[in-house]
Formats: sequence, structure tokens, C-alpha cells
Amino acid sequence: MRAAADSHDLISEPGIDELLARARRWGADLRAGVSAVFADEAGEELIARLADLIVAAWESRPQQLRERDRERLLMPDWFQRPETLGYVCYTDRFAGTLDSVVKHVDYLSELGITYLHLMPLLRPRPAPNDGGYAVADYREVRADLGTIGDLERLADVLHANNISLTVDLVLNHVAREHQWAVAARAGDEKYRDYFYVYPDRTVPDEYEKSLPEVFPDFAPGNFTWDEELNAWVWTTFNDYQWDVNWSNPNVVYEFADIALYLANRGVDCLRLDAIAFIWKRMGTNSQNQPEVHALTRILRAVARIATPSLVFKAEAIVAPEDVVTYLGVGDYAGNVSDLAYHNSLMVQIWSALATRDVRLLSRALSRFPAKPTTTAWATYLRCHDDIGWAIDDADAASVGWTGYDHRRFLSEWFAGRTPYSFARGEEFQVNEATGDSRISGSAASLIGIEQALDLGNDGLLDDALARLRCAYAIVYGFGGIPLLYMGDELGLLNDHSYVNDPERAADNRWMHRPEMNWDVAAGRHQPGTLQARVFESIKRLGDVRRSLPCLHAAVESHAVETPNRSVLVLTRAHASGDLVQVYNVSPEWQRIPSELLGSLHGRALREEIAGSPCEIVDGEIVLAPYAALWLTSKG
Ligand code: GLC
Ligand code: GLC
Repeated sequence: MRAAADSHDLISEPGIDELLARARRWGADLRAGVSAVFADEAGEELIARLADLIVAAWESRPQQLRERDRERLLMPDWFQRPETLGYVCYTDRFAGTLDSVVKHVDYLSELGITYLHLMPLLRPRPAPNDGGYAVADYREVRADLGTIGDLERLADVLHANNISLTVDLVLNHVAREHQWAVAARAGDEKYRDYFYVYPDRTVPDEYEKSLPEVFPDFAPGNFTWDEELNAWVWTTFNDYQWDVNWSNPNVVYEFADIALYLANRGVDCLRLDAIAFIWKRMGTNSQNQPEVHALTRILRAVARIATPSLVFKAEAIVAPEDVVTYLGVGDYAGNVSDLAYHNSLMVQIWSALATRDVRLLSRALSRFPAKPTTTAWATYLRCHDDIGWAIDDADAASVGWTGYDHRRFLSEWFAGRTPYSFARGEEFQVNEATGDSRISGSAASLIGIEQALDLGNDGLLDDALARLRCAYAIVYGFGGIPLLYMGDELGLLNDHSYVNDPERAADNRWMHRPEMNWDVAAGRHQPGTLQARVFESIKRLGDVRRSLPCLHAAVESHAVETPNRSVLVLTRAHASGDLVQVYNVSPEWQRIPSELLGSLHGRALREEIAGSPCEIVDGEIVLAPYAALWLTSKG
């Protein structure tokens, strides 16, 4: 770094001492990350190149973003605080273009949103492109959404409205049309080394022995024969998404460069797409390999030095013991991703609602190792992807169920094929060989709103709305950034129009990627409409959440075993005052003994969501169907 600074004659530049202080602070992290993956010489060379990159990115960092760096270094826990609330949408489906997102910032603020994830917006290959997850150019915006300049202007507007911007960094693969892949096909050796390229099936066959298939239905296998390349290339996802080779230091350098480029456009958070897959190891499923964390550590250290307001969110849809490694365990504690999706919580909420039984949920949560106190979960009920039934066999056995059967049950239930099911989803990626399948569908359709509307049954509609409120109360009350998925706040149903688009028809994840209907949204201000009922209850959760310091993500929620299997109890111990949450996941009245409230037992209780006192009746808390209580002792 010093060499780079000298050669640029930077020593007298304003702010250089801050940069150097940060290099001293995070330089050791950078070295540790690099030396865990690359041998001496290659590692030293990479560090030197990254140092130049850092200096260049810092030099071109706009003044207002340097100020943002200072603010965020003074408040490093901004994403852990209870006022942080996320919203996730596709730019085109929400607003049309990046420019027109500006018109809807008020809508976001009305919901209390302070964090906006705009789904893939960098220039993808022409369709099919996996919803934009096949990027052809990381430095350009999708033409129909606008330009890089529009992205910068939008970031400014969002920042002025106290909203942070998240975009996707797809780092496991690039589109077959990306210039690296084009150069590789043209025979450029340098770029062939950016990918996993094999002349015949020998090595691929060896890997395939232990590799699962992500899209067994429309993209079977993990390798694709490419005529022009005259070789097999690794393609974990679709055949047009080429996995990049992170064991090549050039690839690390390129992605560090892209990350800093996006940070300098005003992006606050990078969602590290499919990060679990970026390191391959023969004989394993090539997910969650330790090198993944070393590589994240490198990217994060580079960003902390050059553009420190940038944070990272891991999209690792993996088992509990694995997912926590993305926030960091052992040597990596607190120096990898700042945020990670809590997939398990999401899956378990759906399982609890279907079975009216929280035992599996409590069991799964209690097996979670502690996360670093400086990190946060991203909690959610729905997203643009399918729901994979990540139910652990041992957890299922501990409540007397069989993992496989329970996963089958959930697919059947949410596809609406089980008697009494309230759900209207569809199976996704049915794997004939293993019997596994996943589920597509919007929150409103999966939770019973669609069914109640079809049957014109007001009682069922009340139940479904209460169920949605209960589910979102868990998402908002768990701790971490709650992510509200566009449309859930209005109860938007499945959208089947994708079947008319040949590029989308085979992928039913499009059924839960609807377009925003602003006329329907206007109904949120007309009392009594479905939209008003859903919107009000979700908005209320955000308002209350913001007022509760005990929801800071530095502390964690713990599940308490209860004698009533339909009632979930979560406790949070915080210096400002404890919070105990009680959720009834059934359509019947339930009771639990008030001793379960732990530190709040015997105190005067306040239920924060309703903003009223909570009475204990004969030593018990009485819960209405799908009640969600956030209890404090504020009296
Ligand atoms: C992520 C995305 C998913 C996409 C996959 C491949 O998991 O969420 O939509 O199919 O990565 O990029
Ligand atoms: C698998 C992957 C996940 C991806 C999803 C796409 O579950 O693990 O990363 O989002 O497929 O449907």
C-alpha cells in the first residue's frame, strides 16, 4: 500500500490518514484471507494488486460517499438496529425504471423501510437469464431499467431518504455472453483459466459422484458441453451460467474491482449470490468449503479499507451449522459477511403453520450456534426463490417424525393437495430420483388468502390474515433485518401470467414475482379493504419494532420449550429491558403458564404490538387464534 501511495504521490491528499488508518486496521484481515487460499508468491502479488485497486477506488470515491463512510464507521451497527427494515423488489415490476423508483420512495417510507434490495439490475444476457442472475456486464445497468448514472442518482435520493441500497453481486457464475466467457471461447488462455474447463468427461464424472443438482428439472447435471470452447464447462445452475474459477487470483482481483466499482456508485450492501458454491472440492458437494470464507474475508477487508460503508450479505441457503459460518465462526468470526439469510427460520415458520406445531421450529433454533455479535440475520417469509424444505433429519427425529416424510408432507401441503390445506402453491424442481421437491407461491397464496377469497369465506379470510400477521410478527420480532418481499404488504396473490412467456414458462418461480399494481396499492388507505388490513398490520409491526431497543441484533432470540406445542416462546435478554414473544400458530385458542415468561414472570406486562397491558388469567397467558404478543415489563 505504501508503495502504491508513494507512486501516486498521495501523501498530501486530504483524507489520506483515514485511508492509512483503515489499512492498518484491516490489512491483517486481508493478509489472513489471501494466505489461506494462495501460496506465497501468488498471494504477495495479489495483495500488491489489491492495494493498487484500493488506492484507485479511494481516489475516485465521491465526496458524499466518503462522508457516508465516516458516518457508518461511527455507527457500524446501523444494519443491526431495530429501525432498519428491508424491502425487496424487482425494479421493473415495482416501478418500471430506476428513475421511477424515486416516485415510490414515499410508499417505502410509509412502511418504515430503510433498506432497499433491488433485484438483479446489472446487464444480463438476453432472456433466458435466470431472472437476471446471468450477468453479461457488471458495469452496466439493464437497458430497460436505465443507466449507471440513473443508479447513482437513485442511490443519492435513497440516501437522502434514509434508505440504504442493496444490489446483487453474482459471484459464482457469469453469463455465457460475459466478455470473459467470450474471450475463453475465442481461445484466450488467460480467460479459459477464469472457468472450470475440461476436455472430456473424466474430471466432471469424478466430481458428479458427489454433486447434487440445483435445477434437476430444467438444467440437469453440473457441466455443459460447449462446441466453441470444445470442452466441458462447469455450470452449477443453468447451462448459460458459467461458474467462475475462484482459485485463480485474477478472478479474485476482478470481483474486488467490481465490488468497489459498485460501492462507488452508491451501493451500500452487496448480496453475495449463491456464495456457498464458489469453491469446488473433489469428493464433496462443493458447497460451504472453508476457502469460501477466506475469499469473503479478502473482499470485505478490501472494502473496509477503500469504501468502508459497504457491507456484505451472504445468500447461502444451507444447513444451520453451515449458514452460521457465513457470519463467521472460529478465526473468521465477524470478518466475513455482515448479514446472512435465515433460511431455516423461514422454512420452519411455514412448517409450524402447516402442522400447528412449533416443536421442530424450537428444536432447530436451539441448535443454532451463536453468531458474532456484530452481525445480523436477514429474516424473511418469502423471496423471489422457491422454498426448499431444509428440514434436518435429526431435528425431525427428535420430535418423532421422519425428515423425508415431513419434507414430502410440506410439499404436498403447500401444493394444496392435502385435505384441510389452506395453501395454493405449486411444486418446483420435482426430483424423480430423490423424491425431493420445493415450493413456489406468494405469501398470500401459500398462507390461505387466495383460498379464502376463492371460497368467498370471510371466516377463512380472517384466519388467513391473522396467520400472515403472525408469520410476519415472527420475521419482524426475531432480530436482524426483516425483509418485506414486494406484494406481501398488500396480499398479492400468485400471478400465472408467466406461462405465456416462453422464456419463463418452465420456471414457476415467476408465479411469485408479480407486478406491483398501484391501483390495488391505493386501496391500502380505504379502511376495510384486504389491502388496508394487510398493510396496516405490517406497517404497525415496523412502527413498534423501531421503538424497541431490545430488538437490536447484537443479542439473539432464544426459543423456550413449552408444554403447548402450538405456542412458540422466544426470549431476548437486553440491557434496556427484556422482550418475550409469544406466538400461537394455530386457529384455536391456546394457553401457556406465565412462568414461561422467565425474567418477565410476575411483572406487570405490556403487549407492544397492540400497545396495551397484557393480563395473566389464573397464572396463564391466554392466546387468541394466531395471536402474536411482544411482551415487555414497561407496565
Ligand atoms: C440465487 C438466486 C436464484 C438464482 C441462483 C443462481 O440463489 O436467488 O434466483 O437462480 O442464485 O444465480
Ligand atoms: C438452491 C440454491 C439457492 C438458490 C435456489 C434457486 O436452493 O441453494 O442458492 O437460490 O436453488 O432456486
